[in-house]
Amino acid sequence: MPMKTVTVNLGERSYRIHVGRGLISRVGDELCSLMPPCKTALVTDENVEALYCDALERSLRGAGFEPKRIVLRSGERSKSLATARRLYDEFLGHRLDRKSLVVALGGGVVGDVAGFAAATYMRGIAFVQVPTTLLAQVDSSVGGKVAVNHPLGKNLIGAFHQPIAVFIDVRTLKTLPEREYKSGLAELVKHGLIRDARFFALLEKNVKALKGCKLSFLEQAVAKSVAIKARVVEADERESGLRAILNYGHTIGHAIEAVSRYRGYTHGEAVAIGMACAARIAMNRGMLKEDAVVRQNDLLARIGLPVALRREPTEALIASLYRDKKTIRGRLRFVLLERIGKATIVEGISEEEVVRAIEECRADS
Ligand SMILES: NC(=O)c1ccc[n+]([C@@H]2O[C@H](COP(=O)([O-])OP(=O)(O)OC[C@H]3O[C@@H](n4cnc5c(N)ncnc54)[C@H](O)[C@@H]3O)[C@@H](O)[C@H]2O)c1
Ligand SMILES: [Zn+2]
Repeated sequence: MPMKTVTVNLGERSYRIHVGRGLISRVGDELCSLMPPCKTALVTDENVEALYCDALERSLRGAGFEPKRIVLRSGERSKSLATARRLYDEFLGHRLDRKSLVVALGGGVVGDVAGFAAATYMRGIAFVQVPTTLLAQVDSSVGGKVAVNHPLGKNLIGAFHQPIAVFIDVRTLKTLPEREYKSGLAELVKHGLIRDARFFALLEKNVKALKGCKLSFLEQAVAKSVAIKARVVEADERESGLRAILNYGHTIGHAIEAVSRYRGYTHGEAVAIGMACAARIAMNRGMLKEDAVVRQNDLLARIGLPVALRREPTEALIASLYRDKKTIRGRLRFVLLERIGKATIVEGISEEEVVRAIEECRADS
């Protein structure tokens, strides 16, 4: 079975990300080359359990691992300290020790909370990601950020804990609800926009395959997208600089999510509109050519992602930006494009510039 492999080079924390079709049934065998079979917590959510857990469990058992299935309720509310606490109880009940393993099978919620529990249980044990949403495959499973939410904000309690391997089975995308799938496509396109003009052009040429979830193309596109993120993470593992470019579209995107109270938009939809606004800011500053803005927004729109704001009032969005601490002495900080394939961090964007861009990105403007 052919598969693509991307290595994340982080010294002794290096690991490989495998991308293929039908990989789930091979996870056990592949893991054997990384560690001796051991007691394993297999963490998943109720939707994913019904679809893929049996196959993964069989593969782990076949290779000598002793998996204990732990099923979370699906949804963002499971990304909590209460869930982490439950996971610790389960790990202890199954007698996991410092040489044991945690496997996360599911979307970003499962990956983040299981990863957080793995990072903290006995000061950190081995962790493997088997992401099953497109967002988790191209974004959250790569890079080692793990976290849970606090009532006062998302991802406020977390750690850096790199997995020992990531297994991306693109076949799992076939059962993903279409809106979740498109949400992940926003991050995939983002990776082209910030770092790789050729990848962006490849996506432009293959919109039909992308939209139709054609697995042979996705295998290639997901591997490329993962490789782009991996190179950024290698250069700046703990986000002291460059890694921030991965937040392209997320400044206004997060404001849209907050103002709409995380209802009405998926994360990818909010990020798509955020990228449209950011491109507008860059264009108005003379940093980015209009033709690049058009190409970006066209690709997003052809995929079925929104690039215009509808209802959120500008004042509420701006207030949310300030609350998000993305400011330095009243001036805002943004990731902007210089061209397709090259993003930079720009400090000192004025509120007027942001207001203008937001207004210009309204559906009725
Ligand atoms: N750690 C990071 O670097 C990072 C980066 C980006 C996002 N995140 C986090 O990721 C989370 C969002 O992840 P998500 O979008 O994957 O959400 P999710 O984990 O909630 O999954 C979305 C839904 O899809 C279902 N699902 C998962 N795989 C499926 C499949 N193959 N078929 C059918 N249904 C399936 C899930 O049960 C869930 O209902 C957020 O908490 C976000 O903060 C983390
Ligand atoms: Zn995102």
